[in-house]
Amino acid sequence: LRIAVLISGSGSNLQAIIDACASGEINGEVTAVISNKADVYGLQRAQAAKISHSVVAANRGEARELYDRRLTAELAQHKPDLVVLAGFMRILSESFVRQYEGKMFNIHPSLLPKYPGLDTHQRVLDAGDDEHGASVHFVTPELDGGPVVLQAKVPVFEEDDAADLAQRVHTQEHRIYPLVVKWFCQGRLAMGDNIALMDGNKL
Ligand code: GRF
Repeated sequence: LRIAVLISGSGSNLQAIIDACASGEINGEVTAVISNKADVYGLQRAQAAKISHSVVAANRGEARELYDRRLTAELAQHKPDLVVLAGFMRILSESFVRQYEGKMFNIHPSLLPKYPGLDTHQRVLDAGDDEHGASVHFVTPELDGGPVVLQAKVPVFEEDDAADLAQRVHTQEHRIYPLVVKWFCQGRLAMGDNIALMDGNKL
């Protein structure tokens, strides 16, 4: 399958997926990397992997729908079978999401439905939780609200700060995201009525 990955930053999740495709773990190919920010390390990762990459940057004050139409135009050129949001830090409009619903995933650094939104690691520390984690979910118009496909849990230790947690969560992200992409490329995942299905069964 043709995989398009949307990024905004370092692209460590992008790298994990590139590596899993290269090793044959994933029966797919990252054929496009699109960033909403220029000069991010994720673009260098695409370059190094000889993957077509481009920047679709928002113009100051540009309406969300207008930006999303430009993003759609860029994405459509690559004819993706699967769209992977990997650290993509923009909220996508409903019209954009509807085009790819059922074949678009996101990874979020929390045990959804806990802590949708930003600064999840600090919020976990502030709440005194003893566990945290990452979630891969189908993307629906509700921010961080789509049906969860796979989660990984990590412990929270007394002496942890946000950076410690982020690092521990990142390690798990790089395990679970390639696995979900692999399953999708094997035709084992589908989205039902706001539920995730694996091999036809509700997850
Ligand atoms: C990850 O923690 C991911 O969960 C969140 O943003 C970060 C992206 O990291 N959405 P990277 O760009 O994949 O390294």
